[in-house]
Amino acid sequence: MLPRREFLRHSAAAGVTFFSKKFASPFFAPPASADSRIEIILDEPLGAISPNIYGHFAENLSGVIYDGIWVGENSKVPNINGIRKELVDHMRTINPPVVRFPGGCFADSYDWRDGIGPRDKRPRRTNFWASEESPSSPAPHKYDPNQFGTNEFAQFCKLIGSQPYLAANLRSLPAEAFYHWVEYCNSPAGSTTLADARAAAGYPDPFNVTFWGVGNESWGCGGNFTAQEYAVEFRRYTAWLPVYDRRPLSLIASGPNGDDATWTRGFLEELVRKGKSQVRSVYGFALHHYAWNLSRGRTQDWFEGKGDALNFDPVDWYELLREGQRMESMINNHWQALAEEDPDHSIKLVVDEWGPWYKPGSEATPGDLLEQMITLRDAVFSGMTLDIFNRHPEKVTMANCAQLINCLNSLYLAHENNFVVTPVGHVFAMYAAHQSGQAVRSVFNAPAIHYDRDGKSASFWALNGSASLRNKSLVVTVVNPSVSDARETQLVLHSAKIKSATATVLTHSDIHAHNTFAQKQTVVPQTKTIAAPQADLTYTFAPASVTKLMLELV
Ligand code: AHR
Repeated sequence: MLPRREFLRHSAAAGVTFFSKKFASPFFAPPASADSRIEIILDEPLGAISPNIYGHFAENLSGVIYDGIWVGENSKVPNINGIRKELVDHMRTINPPVVRFPGGCFADSYDWRDGIGPRDKRPRRTNFWASEESPSSPAPHKYDPNQFGTNEFAQFCKLIGSQPYLAANLRSLPAEAFYHWVEYCNSPAGSTTLADARAAAGYPDPFNVTFWGVGNESWGCGGNFTAQEYAVEFRRYTAWLPVYDRRPLSLIASGPNGDDATWTRGFLEELVRKGKSQVRSVYGFALHHYAWNLSRGRTQDWFEGKGDALNFDPVDWYELLREGQRMESMINNHWQALAEEDPDHSIKLVVDEWGPWYKPGSEATPGDLLEQMITLRDAVFSGMTLDIFNRHPEKVTMANCAQLINCLNSLYLAHENNFVVTPVGHVFAMYAAHQSGQAVRSVFNAPAIHYDRDGKSASFWALNGSASLRNKSLVVTVVNPSVSDARETQLVLHSAKIKSATATVLTHSDIHAHNTFAQKQTVVPQTKTIAAPQADLTYTFAPASVTKLMLELV
């Protein structure tokens, strides 16, 4: 590692010219300042970026499973054994590493045994979310037909090249049901009665499910436990689970309500009452963070505090990003809290729900519970969040965007024959290049953004992002959150030279821009090859944009 002063000397000598004004695009407004700088410190590795931080979440909630993923084998919607084909085709392009199912809150009401065996014999059950649904919502959203169960989910994962992450029911099923679910999924062909049941359904080979959530939001919908009570349950439910072929299970403990580190401390204190080695039974500790309160400090009420997905002012744009930025302090706080009982950090963070959460009213399919229209604001939010994960590779081992389709921060919206990739879906496609890369330290310097917050000046950072390296390929992703100002920026690479470069930019002149079933191409990324840079390297980041620079180094 070079000391900082030496680094600056090196970087000045290594300057190369990048494109900027030549990039004649309606998306590139004239720069408002040339005093921004990004330093990429190639010889300060932070750790390998786990591909699983680019994970997904598909809860059995309203239009996520029924209509979103599962259309049924007899549907007119093109499908692969009942699974929406267009979704599979798109997901294959973003390298999805892992999908969490079946919840969320739904998981602690779900009996996995209802979702196996012949589909025409499976029971209908009241969905956890039924009482929130509108009277006119389709029956499968209220009364779970169990057509999409463990087999179908495993098949979906196989089709898209993902690992499954199942959340076990800790509130309403006994521990026995958990280990039988593991046995159903993982016992070798012909070995157990449950393996035979799986084979009878057409799946002789084990699903080899590694990731298992031990409940969900156990402080609330997942059992209303105290942290100490949950730790006792965690120990009991995980005291014995079957392991096959010496493949260990990766067990994920339910984390706090928001940023409440007293839960984290309480859970660990109780867990290790049976001995320090108990921490090794926990692979991951779950964090959930939704950016929902756009009230600018007026209320903490869950309903009153929410903003609108489509109708918003610049102040709401910045407030959402501020709420989202809290993710970084949550990661740091909980990492520290875990260290009190786990100084070696054998437990990693699993941010298995994240995204913005708006009030109802912008649904692409009216009546779909928790569905919201995804705008450029959500793309910028998502780029910002993925960059946070990239900057903490030693801490965050998995993250799951809430949710995959037709719910909250959707990558895709679908209804019957309609399907569209949202701006968030495009961000995931852009950021896939970071997966398994070596994160390297990046330092962003730009004059802060100031905006009016109810008569008082508030500020937000003006440029941020992350960088990763794989062999000689450097990926730099950058968010410019300013709703109005382009940011001319000097990009300084640590004594490295660039052979070739491309820029992929997701932006629009309207901060409310979004893709609909009728207008699918309003917000789409544009990629340009950059002429081989020679001298000073500067690049102008468009306002309200997410940018990926792909640099091949000499
Ligand atoms: O993602 C929607 C819900 O939000 C999940 O079911 C729950 O875990 C969280 O509160």
